[in-house]
Amino acid sequence: MVKERKLIIAGNWKMNKTVAEALDLVNGLKRELAAVKEVDIVVCPPFTALSEVSKVVLDSNIRLGAQDMSQHIGGAYTGEIAAGMLKEFSVRYVILGHSERRQFNGETDALVATKAAAALGASLKPIICVGELLHQRESGQTEAVIEAQLEGSLKGLTKGQLEESIIAYEPVWAIGTGKVATPQQAQEVHAYIRRRLAIMFDESTARHVRIQYGGSVKSSNARELMSQPDVDGALVGGASLEVRGFSDIVKNSI
Ligand code: PGA
Repeated sequence: MVKERKLIIAGNWKMNKTVAEALDLVNGLKRELAAVKEVDIVVCPPFTALSEVSKVVLDSNIRLGAQDMSQHIGGAYTGEIAAGMLKEFSVRYVILGHSERRQFNGETDALVATKAAAALGASLKPIICVGELLHQRESGQTEAVIEAQLEGSLKGLTKGQLEESIIAYEPVWAIGTGKVATPQQAQEVHAYIRRRLAIMFDESTARHVRIQYGGSVKSSNARELMSQPDVDGALVGGASLEVRGFSDIVKNSI
């Protein structure tokens, strides 16, 4: 099946990999994935490995992403990293509003919207994460939760800016749990997200935006998930930490 939108498969390494381990992984991916042209491939190492990894991916089809960034351009914000600092390492993407940051760092939709504007202002493509908790799904609130997250996290973005952005649907109950959404569950929510984007922006903008699925994606379930009409890629955690796992996901998605 030929997809209307090019797939994007991104690896979120989270708080894993020393510089040496990151180099091993990315060198392996570079070798395994050199021939792949059909998918945009992104790796998101921890900040400490960005500099070295950026040198390895420079002449490859692998692009670099960061896992978070500050909403501020610079200044007295101890421990924070600004968009401009990421740009030094040719970072093109940045994950924003991941559920772990929402849960453990108290990040709100309003903060995510401010960060998204800052990322886009620096020509970084934000990967904006949304997703419901298990009890929210079980009590039939999935669509309401997603709607509120989209309204809050995309507030103030123009149509042009949304087209430069990526939405990641990551049901929180599926992240790192081995419990993957069924292809039908993913498709339903992705289609819902696209309908909401059409209402918030317009039909054409909504059609262009790539919507990734994340949550226990692995090589054995990637093909079926990626073949759903509104699933335009994956945000992969655990399975992106090994060359075989991640490269098989990319290859199985084509
Ligand atoms: P997982 O993580 O693939 O390990 O479930 C996904 C994510 O957190 O982006």
